[in-house]
Amino acid sequence: MLEVLRSGRLSIGPMLERFEREFAAWLGAEDAVATSSGTAALHLGVRALGWGAGDEVVTSPFSFVASANCLVYEGAAPVFCDIDPVTLDIDAGAARATVGERTAGLLPVHIFGYPAPLPELERLAAERGLAILEDACEAAGAVDSEGAAVGTRGNIAGFGFYGNKQLVTGEGGMAIPPDAATAARMRSERNQGRDADLGWLEHERIGFNYRLTDLQAALGVAQVERADALLSERARVASLYGERLARLGGARAGEGDPDGLVLPCADRGAERRSWFVYVVQLPQGADRGAVISSLADRGIAAKAYLPCIHLMPPYRERFGFAEGRFPVAESVSSRSLALPFFVGMEEAQVERACAALAGALGLDSPA
Ligand SMILES: Cc1ncc(COP(=O)(O)O)c(C=O)c1O
Repeated sequence: MLEVLRSGRLSIGPMLERFEREFAAWLGAEDAVATSSGTAALHLGVRALGWGAGDEVVTSPFSFVASANCLVYEGAAPVFCDIDPVTLDIDAGAARATVGERTAGLLPVHIFGYPAPLPELERLAAERGLAILEDACEAAGAVDSEGAAVGTRGNIAGFGFYGNKQLVTGEGGMAIPPDAATAARMRSERNQGRDADLGWLEHERIGFNYRLTDLQAALGVAQVERADALLSERARVASLYGERLARLGGARAGEGDPDGLVLPCADRGAERRSWFVYVVQLPQGADRGAVISSLADRGIAAKAYLPCIHLMPPYRERFGFAEGRFPVAESVSSRSLALPFFVGMEEAQVERACAALAGALGLDSPA
């Protein structure tokens, strides 16, 4: 960051290019286009695919709202389908059943860092002539069932670097373009529609100010240098939670009582989660609001995470969604709770959080 400050090139300078190059190399992608946020990366992806009015895109209702908003920005309609109760990602069978006449594409979200079923979705896309945009904002470093790093399958993908992400620049994102022409268009639209070979005040198309500053890019470069260590640190904290909560009777999704305390699923086959958050599902019938207050009384911050997108006011109003359409997503959403989770979290802190949860749920505290 000092190097950037001393250079006087605070935006569109060499540090931006370096961040793009080094992130792409770390990921294993040909190229990467840095943006001011993950949402901006996804929006540029939607535009590159030409999705707009009259197009429907099949996506997950169990996601952060930006994954659907980026479609609405362009007048395309998010069409939700239910999720897999184990991985919490879009269910490939449900996606297939949802594709219709007006479907232009699929927008899978690698939720909580667990890789979505891209091989199945790509087969569906090939059969029905659909494009795919991957929301990888929560999944830097995740690996899919075929051993490919999320974002490297040749679909457009968007990553995010907000302060809670695996790699952070405060605000920031990265779009992965499938080819050089798309990369050029994304770089132009990120920068008010300027083309690389035109003058500063000549605009080839309507664009946006989606630029990442070089100061943010410098943070990004430093984060990429530490990326593998940061990811294993997050995995360490998750495994501490897994051990402690198993002693309280928690079981990983798909392995125990689905009505009990459900922990994040284990990696299946070649799939590797990139740990983003530690979200459990409370036992069926537990009063989540009371659990959150009881945790707060014990000094532990926890959050209901995530609300379903289709039940948010603008989606209800614009698209007419109501409760009951996506029972798995709605059930998971009503029971899910994010526990404190951060790099450097100590064993004693994890233990305290688990003991507080045990107290709040009336379970035996882990020794
Ligand atoms: C799944 C998902 N999509 C999109 C975004 C948007 O990213 P940003 O906040 O960087 O715009 C986020 C994170 O905030 C996210 O978690």
